[in-house]
Amino acid sequence: MKFIELVQKRYSVRNFSNEAISEEQLSAILEAVRLAPSAVNFQPYRFFVVSNKNTLAQLAQCYAREWFAKAPLCIVACGDHTQGWHRADGKDHTDIDVAIAVDHLTLAAAEQGIGTCWVCNFDVKRCAEILNLPNNLEPIALIPMGYAANVTCDERHKTRKSANDLFTFIR
Ligand SMILES: Cc1cc2nc3c(=O)[nH]c(=O)nc-3n(C[C@H](O)[C@H](O)[C@H](O)COP(=O)(O)O)c2cc1C
Repeated sequence: MKFIELVQKRYSVRNFSNEAISEEQLSAILEAVRLAPSAVNFQPYRFFVVSNKNTLAQLAQCYAREWFAKAPLCIVACGDHTQGWHRADGKDHTDIDVAIAVDHLTLAAAEQGIGTCWVCNFDVKRCAEILNLPNNLEPIALIPMGYAANVTCDERHKTRKSANDLFTFIR
């Protein structure tokens, strides 16, 4: 599959079957996460790969949506702000690094035919309690994963700004 085809193929899946993700596919996806670039190569993150049913049920309390609770696996992407690169003006790049790694994850999953959805609108404090996270780790995104039960995608997937609205060429 060409890269542009993969980018077109990925969409936010909010309808999962309960079929478990194969270990082989999961490994391929996690390898793409591992190879993500990060500022100064500091790799200031930790990913919790949750398939334990009790823990998944607890995580569902952090984002109360029926579809979210159905995913057979959820990755909790955490940033470590003590490890992230801080530019001279103080800007912390941890969130950027986590976002790049999660983008690798969602695209690699799409290549494997596995659906994902970024979730940032969740109860961060509760999530940190459930995973018993140390203070240095901040949960930044939840990524429920699984095979899509059907291929209905949200209207928003088809709605993007035009090239004119996005790109300024300075030639
Ligand atoms: C940083 C970020 C946070 C997001 N948080 C949520 C969320 O909390 N809940 C949700 O249902 N979708 C969430 N999304 C998914 C977006 O709604 C979705 O990517 C956007 O509408 C475009 O649709 P598409 O992913 O199908 O192309 C998030 C996406 C990003 C990139």
